[in-house]
Amino acid sequence: MIKHDVMIIGGGIAGSRAALEIARTCPDLSIGLVAKTHPIRSHSVAAQGGMAATLKNVDPEDSWEAHAFDTVKGSDYLADQDAVAILTQEAPDAVIDLEHMGVLFSRLESGHIAQRAFGGHSHNRTCYAADKTGHAILHELIVNLISSGVTVYDEWYVMRLIQEEEEAKGVVMFRLSDGHLEVVEAKVVMLATGGYGRVFNTTSNDYASTGDGLAMVAKVGLPLQDMEFVQFHPTGLPVGVLISEAVRGEGAYLINSEGDRFMATYAPSRMELAPRDITSRAIYSEVRAGRGVHLEDGSAGGSFVYLDLRHMGREKIMSRIPFCWEEAHRLVGIDAAVEPMPVRPTAHYSMGGIPTNTEGQVRSGPDGLVPGLFSAGETACVSVHGANRLGSNSLLECVVYGRRTGASIAQYVRDRKAPNLDPAPYLAQAQAEIQALLDRSGSYRIATVRQALQDCMTHHCGVFRTEALMQAGLAQLQVIKQQAQDIVLDDKGSCWNTELTEALELQNLLMVGEMILTSALSRQESRGAHFREDFPDRDDAHFLKHTLSFYSAAGVEIQSRSVALGMFEPKERKY
Ligand code: FUM
Repeated sequence: MIKHDVMIIGGGIAGSRAALEIARTCPDLSIGLVAKTHPIRSHSVAAQGGMAATLKNVDPEDSWEAHAFDTVKGSDYLADQDAVAILTQEAPDAVIDLEHMGVLFSRLESGHIAQRAFGGHSHNRTCYAADKTGHAILHELIVNLISSGVTVYDEWYVMRLIQEEEEAKGVVMFRLSDGHLEVVEAKVVMLATGGYGRVFNTTSNDYASTGDGLAMVAKVGLPLQDMEFVQFHPTGLPVGVLISEAVRGEGAYLINSEGDRFMATYAPSRMELAPRDITSRAIYSEVRAGRGVHLEDGSAGGSFVYLDLRHMGREKIMSRIPFCWEEAHRLVGIDAAVEPMPVRPTAHYSMGGIPTNTEGQVRSGPDGLVPGLFSAGETACVSVHGANRLGSNSLLECVVYGRRTGASIAQYVRDRKAPNLDPAPYLAQAQAEIQALLDRSGSYRIATVRQALQDCMTHHCGVFRTEALMQAGLAQLQVIKQQAQDIVLDDKGSCWNTELTEALELQNLLMVGEMILTSALSRQESRGAHFREDFPDRDDAHFLKHTLSFYSAAGVEIQSRSVALGMFEPKERKY
C-alpha cells in the first residue's frame, strides 16, 4: 500500500497549485498527485482567454469591489459573496505570484501585464498570454512541480474514494499501462478532477472531462451542489471546439443571417460582451427565429451565427488571438481575417460541483464538513460563480482556491492521524469490479451508449428547458442506464485497456447526467444558465438557495443550502 500525508486527485491548475503550496509551506510532508493523463495534458491547458484580476494596468478606476460586484451580478446573485470577496481580493497577488513562478503573460508597451475586456466585466481586467493562457500557466506550474518533491502518478485512473467512519482515508487507483491496482492511504484527499463536459455531445472539453471526482463523492453518499447550472459557451466551432471570448474582447462581432449585430436586442449596453448565459440564449433565439446561418455543406439546419473578425485586421488577429485564427483555419478551413466563422453554443463549464467552504473543505450537507476531504477548481463549488460564471474567473478560481486550499491542507494535516487502512478488501473489491466489466458480454458498444447519453442530455437539458422535456430526458436516461449494464468490451487485457477506462467513465457520466437533470427539474425558476421556458422569471422568494443533490441507487434526493449574501442585495439583472 502506498502512503502519503496528502493525496491530490487531478493534475490541472487547481491540483498543481495546491500541491505546490503544500510543498512550499511544509517541505517535510509526503504529497502524492495522481492524474489520468500526463498533468500537462489536463484540460486546464486548453483555457484560452485569460485570468481576471484588478491589477489596474489598463484601467486605474478598477477595484476588487467592482470585480466582486460584476461576479455576483453575473452569477444571478447565487454566488456565495464571502467566497467572491476572497476570490477578487486575492486575484492580483495570485497573478503576480504566477509571474514570479515564470508565467509569461502578454505585455503592454509599458512592460506591465496586459489586460483585456471580457464578458460581464465592467473594466478591462483580464490578464492573458495571447489566447493560450491556460497553457502558459499550467506549463510553469508543472515545471515548478517537478522540482517540488511531490510524487506524481501520471496516467493512473482513480476508481474510488475510500471513506470510513464518514472520513476520507484514501483512494483506489490503477496504472493505465498495465492495470496494476494500488490502495493509497492518505491523511487528506483533495479532489481537483475538473468538469464533465463530455456529458453533452457538443463540448469544448477534453475527452477526459468525464466528471470522475463528482461521481466519486456522489458514490459515497456525499452531495453535489448546483448541478443544474451548466455553462454553454456562446462561441463553439461546429465540432464544439472553443473560440475564445477573447476574440470578442478584442472586438469581434456576432452577426445573424441578415447581417445584423443581434446582441443589440438582448444586451444593448454590453453587446457581444454580455455574460455567456445571455449571449448563448440570444444565439439560439436568433436561430429559432430563422435568422441562423447554415454551414457551407447545408448541414445542421441553420443552427449557427457568424463570429466576424474581418474589421479587426490580420495584424491584430495574429498578435492577440493567433490560436483562434489557427483553430478556425485548421478545423473549418476559414481564414478569419477575410471570412466570418460559424459558431454556436458549446457545453463548456460546470458552475456546480462538490460543495466546499472557503478553505476548500468538502461539505457533507447543509451544515457539516467531511474530515480529511478537500476540493478546488472546476470540480468544486465554493461557490464563486453561482448560476453563471463570468469568463476569465475560472482560471482565477483554480489559482486562488488551489493555493488557498493547499495552504489550509498544510495546516489541517498537522493534527491528523494516519488512517491505518486495511487495503485487502478494497483491492479485492476493485479487482472484482474490473473483472465484472471485462466479463460482460452484452450487446451494446460503449461508444453507442455514451452517444445516446450525450444526445439525451443535449436535447433534454440544454440552453432552454421545460418540465416535460426534462422528464422525458430522465425517462430516457433510465433506459440508457440499462443499456450501460449490457455493454461488451472487446479488450479483456490489462495493457492500456482504454475500453475499460471508458466503461468506468461512462458510469460517471451517467451519474452526473442524472444529477444535472434531477437538480434542473427541482429548480422551478430561471436563473443564470438555467433557463426554464415554463418558469421564465427568477424567483428569489423560493429559489435563492443552493441545490444539494444526493445520489443513491433509488434515485437522486434534493435538499438545499442557504446562499451567503452580504455585500450586494439581489436586483434585477440587466446589461
Ligand atoms: O473564452 C474563453 O477564453 C474562455 C475563458 C473562460 O472560460 O474563462
